[in-house]
Amino acid sequence: MTRRAVVQGVGHYLPERLVPNCEFETTLDTSDEWIRARTGIERRHFVADGQGTSDLAVHAAEAALRDADLSPEDVDAIVLATSTSDLTFPSTATMVQDRLGMTRGFAFDVQAVCAGFIYALANANALIVSGQANRVIVIGAESFSRIMDWTDRSTCVLFGDGAGAVLLEGREENGNSDDRGILSTDLNSDGRFRDILYVDGGVATGTIGHLRMQGKEVFRHAVEKLATTARTAVSKIGLKESDIDWIVPHQANLRIIKATAQRLGHSMEDVIVTVQDHGNTSAASIPLALSVGVADGRIQKGDLIVTEAIGGGLAWGAVVLRW
Ligand code: ACO
Repeated sequence: MTRRAVVQGVGHYLPERLVPNCEFETTLDTSDEWIRARTGIERRHFVADGQGTSDLAVHAAEAALRDADLSPEDVDAIVLATSTSDLTFPSTATMVQDRLGMTRGFAFDVQAVCAGFIYALANANALIVSGQANRVIVIGAESFSRIMDWTDRSTCVLFGDGAGAVLLEGREENGNSDDRGILSTDLNSDGRFRDILYVDGGVATGTIGHLRMQGKEVFRHAVEKLATTARTAVSKIGLKESDIDWIVPHQANLRIIKATAQRLGHSMEDVIVTVQDHGNTSAASIPLALSVGVADGRIQKGDLIVTEAIGGGLAWGAVVLRW
């Protein structure tokens, strides 16, 4: 028998304020047509004044707990992926722990920008497989609207706010690729590329800073690295790309999503796409897409899923799991 981290619940939360592309036309030299054609994005949600990443994360965690029919005291750990923590410290994860009323166990943040949820899943999987925790809430939550330069049309139209969560539980499975749960992970980073996507503020500057991106460069790396990491993760368990039922990619740009699916030999019918409705919600985009895919009945128990992401660092990776 092999211990596997199996998804027992999933949920998400989007802040109320819905912002269509046309809203940017009043302040920037841009158009709904340009944004749709170059990115696939049609709308995104933004947090309200006074609303923070921890607020979004609490709602998503509660939804995942409801879906798993569990309460906070049943949970051993929270692993939360974010680059837009409410404060420098404490971690957003411990704020969520408190708000859920969870007084035991442990909670910590993971920071790998848009690849954050992949890194968080890999960490939670390691905790479960090694017996350090049995039930872990894995959350991706972001308020990227807080770090936008609203005068930079090449970045501020791309991002959105939101949160998604899964509840992972340790289960004894057979030890083969038919098992439910996380079957393989592949993590990578290369700090030589840190300058093509970063925030120009932090403790060193005493400011929050704004997101800066060389879009074309990031695009080039994304198309090349996402298919490679997905292929590596699938091959680690002796499966082929054609065995994949669903690709659940990081939702940054529809053109990147299409190019990656094509490289993996899949049509867009096998891909969960939410970028049109959410924009790029960084670490929240994959659990949001998983939650949407389950809620509308596409993702079913037993389906083989590959999920992949790339973000600032550069950091990238993939996780293969059977739902
Ligand atoms: N509206 C109108 N025109 C625009 C806009 C806009 N919102 N933004 C840029 N343009 C203009 C540019 O100024 C440029 O004009 P110029 O030719 O006169 O200089 C022209 O459009 C073309 O710009 P490009 O940057 O070449 O456009 P491109 O087709 O590369 O699309 C984009 C830009 C959408 C940013 C794309 O490069 C992209 O998606 N990159 C990847 C982003 C990504 O995946 N990020 C994921 C990680 S995010 C994270 O980790 C936090």
